[in-house]
Amino acid sequence: MRAEQAELITRIGPGTPCGAVLRRYWQPVALLDEFDPRLDPSMARRPVKAVRVLAQDLVLFRDARGDWGLLDRACPHRGADLSFGRHEGDGLRCPFHGWKFDVAGRCLETPAEPAGSPLCNSVRQRSYPVIERSGIVFAWLGEPGSTPPPFPEFDCFAAPSSHTFAFKGLWNCNWLQAFEVGIDPAHPSFLHRFLQDEPLEAIGDNPAGKQFRSASAGAFGGERWPMTRIMREFHSPEISCESRPWGLQLTALRRMTAELTHVRITQAIFPHTFVIPLSETLTITQMHLPVDDTHTYWYSVFTSFAGPVDKEAMREQRLRFTELPDYLPKSGRHNRWGFNPDEQLTRTFLGMGEDDINVHDQWAIESMGAIQDRTREHLGMSDRVIIANRRLLLKAIETVQAGGTPPGVADAAQAHAMRGPDTVDGIAPAQTWADWWQERARAKRTGAPWAAEPASAK
Ligand code: FES
Ligand SMILES: [Fe+2]
Repeated sequence: MRAEQAELITRIGPGTPCGAVLRRYWQPVALLDEFDPRLDPSMARRPVKAVRVLAQDLVLFRDARGDWGLLDRACPHRGADLSFGRHEGDGLRCPFHGWKFDVAGRCLETPAEPAGSPLCNSVRQRSYPVIERSGIVFAWLGEPGSTPPPFPEFDCFAAPSSHTFAFKGLWNCNWLQAFEVGIDPAHPSFLHRFLQDEPLEAIGDNPAGKQFRSASAGAFGGERWPMTRIMREFHSPEISCESRPWGLQLTALRRMTAELTHVRITQAIFPHTFVIPLSETLTITQMHLPVDDTHTYWYSVFTSFAGPVDKEAMREQRLRFTELPDYLPKSGRHNRWGFNPDEQLTRTFLGMGEDDINVHDQWAIESMGAIQDRTREHLGMSDRVIIANRRLLLKAIETVQAGGTPPGVADAAQAHAMRGPDTVDGIAPAQTWADWWQERARAKRTGAPWAAEPASAK
């Protein structure tokens, strides 16, 4: 790809064409957990957090009534950092000269001014709409004065809190290369390959910490197969993608025998979210929030279509690999992502551990450099989705520049289409895999205590 095009699709700061596209969508800005005093005791007294989103410095806080405020961080007086502000219940007071702002950005006091000064009335700090969904605080950073779109009702947001768990982590690289791993159906056969299989019984009822260790739906010769074995033994999938109201639906077919085909259906929700199956009843929806051009927070929501999830256990499992309060991974470039050459010879294809496969993806995208040099790559058939997604993004940039609406931004009429979308991983009859997976998806939905029929199953 040409250097100018690569620049166009990676830079997201204020005023950039791609930044204008991303500002048309609700963006995750914090986990509710970050404001939980059990995880961060300072939050009991002072629920205030500096956040950086799309290369903008903001401050997120909660007032005494529990209302969220998300404001530009630079004080409108002379620019000091409001994330150091004094939390006074009804607002945040800048420590430099005492100006005070409420959650809507209204200036309540300018105490250094003469009594009766009207200065407050002419000052307004920019504030951004905020909404809570599935353990995540989302914000809308669209043009001032424009209206946010309806919030999509994807499964991970429609499921009750008892059936979802959210977590996040920082990656030191550009958002697009982070997203391009998740929508790459070829990589699990290699990057996440385990050289030996664990017995399926060892997975128990906690598939959340055992990605690709769970069984595929269906059977092969009467036997259930872990996903990882199929990925390992059939490593050259036929990959295709189709346009959907929310973005792209991805199909990866692994022809096992003349009678059986492994089908993996995953979803790319434009502009930076994927949905993949973890087991027959658990999915991960992962968003890739650009912090700035060279840092990305991934936000994952685990969604159960069966029983409630054990949030405490899932959190504990992930905190083993993460530093609070900023959700920094313990492994990274500084320790060569935990690379172990002996493990690479005997246990895994990559050699970076078996318990936290997230670090595999982290290595893949961080080792490319903060912004991958896309002028030097050589794309093949297995990169079709990457190519299709870049085209979609380039087109969305053109559309927004021409004053239009990019994919998946729902208006009231379209909001109903922003549901589902379905994912499957299973061994299907070779001739009828297309009907088979839809039937499995329907059965999963019918069996869920909460799920509604998606608007477009096809
Ligand atoms: S800079 Fe904030 S009150 Fe002066
Ligand atoms: Fe991966």
